[in-house]
Amino acid sequence: MTTSQTSAGHVLSNEAWLDTHAAACAREYRDFVQCAGFETGWSVLDAGSGSGSFVSFLREAVGIEGRVVCIDLASENCRLSSLALGAANEVTQGSVTRLPFASARFDAAWCANTFQYLTAEQVEQALAELRRVVRPGGRVAVKDVDMLAFKVSPADAFLFPHLAESCLRAPDASPDSEGSLRGRELRRWLERAGFIEVQQHSLFIERWAPLTTPEVALWSCWLSYLAALALNRDVPAPDRIEWREIARDGGVPFVTRPDFYGCEAQAIAIGTVPEGS
Ligand SMILES: C[S@@+](CC[C@H](N)C(=O)[O-])C[C@H]1O[C@@H](n2cnc3c(N)ncnc32)[C@H](O)[C@@H]1O
Repeated sequence: MTTSQTSAGHVLSNEAWLDTHAAACAREYRDFVQCAGFETGWSVLDAGSGSGSFVSFLREAVGIEGRVVCIDLASENCRLSSLALGAANEVTQGSVTRLPFASARFDAAWCANTFQYLTAEQVEQALAELRRVVRPGGRVAVKDVDMLAFKVSPADAFLFPHLAESCLRAPDASPDSEGSLRGRELRRWLERAGFIEVQQHSLFIERWAPLTTPEVALWSCWLSYLAALALNRDVPAPDRIEWREIARDGGVPFVTRPDFYGCEAQAIAIGTVPEGS
């Protein structure tokens, strides 16, 4: 499998990666959607829907009387979302920063793992747009990763903080270097954007050896991607040695060690659109 970019230029966003992640974390995906508290019969926008990994859980939440509509920037992900939605689907190619929908059209919006690709200014635009297209009293749920709380063992405790810092400080840093550290700040972003009754839940996706086959696929891919990133960045020399060992043979020997532990930290912030919006 590959973490190659989509046609819109985002890493970790193509079908192979998204499906591998979803297959290894299905239980947590359902828990994330349940946190959002969407109700039966609601019409929900899945903004940045990717390959449609959350569609079935959103459908489950709103029931047959409800409706899920998808939007994504990458044309191939729109096609995949369309397949996930099946009959009577509605998928639009476009940006979460400029939503092509009427105001108050939806009861709720769901936006997972998409803000990490946006600049701070684009996050503000996206939140204003999500607030606009959801009716007063409706809900917006935004979920994202916090790579500073990412951890694997056995490994140096500072391996990931060093990588996060070197990515952030690089002269050619991409928006996701900053965006992937934003997870635990989401609540404040929603509050500043004028949402009310904002709450945030943080959730670790933790896996201990022995991993299942889908988990081996996910963690070996994750660590190979991060090792390639680290070896291309200004991380300390001892880290380089450790990353090479982690990525050996596609990362499989490392993630199948009997003492392996991997942890991805995710946060979900949920806000209500105020009356009079
Ligand atoms: C990591 S994937 C997440 C997909 C899905 N939400 C999930 O969690 O499985 C990020 C998705 O956001 C989309 N995306 C990135 N920037 C976007 C933007 N400005 N507007 C809409 N979609 C965007 C990408 O094309 C990609 O499909």
